[in-house]
Amino acid sequence: MPHYHSLGSIPHKRHTQFRKPDGGLYSEQLFSTEGFSSNYSLLYHTHPPTQIIKVEEPTDVRPKAATDNILKHRSFQGFSVKPDADYLKSRKTVLFNNDVHISLAAPQKSFTTDFYKNADADECIFIHEGTGTLKTQYGQITFSYGDYLVIPRGSIYQLEFNDENNRLFIVESFSPITFPKRYLSKYGQLLEHAPFCERDIRKPQNLETIDQTGNFLIHVKKRGLLYPIWYGTHPFDVVGWDGYEYPFAFSIHDFEPITGRVHQPPPVHQTFDAHNFVICSFVPRLYDYHPDAIPAPYNHSNIDSDEVLYYVDGDFMSRKHVTRGMITLHPGGIPHGPHPGAVEKSIGAKETKELAVMVDTFHPLQMTVDAQGIEDNNYMMSWAE
Ligand SMILES: [Fe+2]
Repeated sequence: MPHYHSLGSIPHKRHTQFRKPDGGLYSEQLFSTEGFSSNYSLLYHTHPPTQIIKVEEPTDVRPKAATDNILKHRSFQGFSVKPDADYLKSRKTVLFNNDVHISLAAPQKSFTTDFYKNADADECIFIHEGTGTLKTQYGQITFSYGDYLVIPRGSIYQLEFNDENNRLFIVESFSPITFPKRYLSKYGQLLEHAPFCERDIRKPQNLETIDQTGNFLIHVKKRGLLYPIWYGTHPFDVVGWDGYEYPFAFSIHDFEPITGRVHQPPPVHQTFDAHNFVICSFVPRLYDYHPDAIPAPYNHSNIDSDEVLYYVDGDFMSRKHVTRGMITLHPGGIPHGPHPGAVEKSIGAKETKELAVMVDTFHPLQMTVDAQGIEDNNYMMSWAE
């Protein structure tokens, strides 16, 4: 989805003989997520990427829906999700529909013995706390606080954390995660009015070719089941690749806010686009500069989307009792707006330090049993004066 990139050695012409020093052929693999009709990359493996030696019984990791379906504003204490040593077990889905799953995770240990492949969904992992390295077949990307790691579905990866304190907000998208179309030229370049540009997109680096045979366990997620599939060759045996399809990082701190004389609507914060939902970044910015401007957002009818806000850091002028890692869900069908007193309080304010990630879905979200366990039941009443 970003631009053309190439690492390592590749043959001059695609689909031609590309030989190893011993005379054998490298194995070419076309990697795409939309058949043969969209972006792709070509990877050159030391061994064919097809050598499965064992498949074990899958584990069901489909989200478990809560039975409480009352239409109301909700909030969840995201940092109450229990840490877990295992990265895959640490992932707890809190809200979901057919287009998107939203999860929280507090993994304590690096996930570098086995491998993971989400064959269902692109992943956008927002790093709230933690630093480390995303390791993939395409190379490595170091990450830290504020990074979105965007991983196309089907990518095989590992996550190395530098310590035990990690908090992740994970969006799984059942369609490709792209940049908003209005920010792209007809040739795909990010336009001048976009809140970020190609220089802000961090691509894989440090391609290491690991030529090993043995037993390599890839946990493959497909149709909500996690299959342990053993391969006879190391998945990171790529000597080179090129193309447009690969994982990348973008830091929320590189998002340049779009501001105005009066309040700007939520789409100015949009960062990513997908089928039936968007991801937005609310970043520190100067407030509206009309002399009579009201910086707090207006109430809005919100008929056709479920609005999920994940609070990262800073102050949140429109809401009370906000804590780091908190999630609010304002479902479609009932209006929402600032808390009592927040509008008057905002007048005259010059800037905000707020940092938050928003996911707006165009079909209703379902809450999970895990979310119910961290719900703040009083939130619905917090607008009553
Ligand atoms: Fe809203």
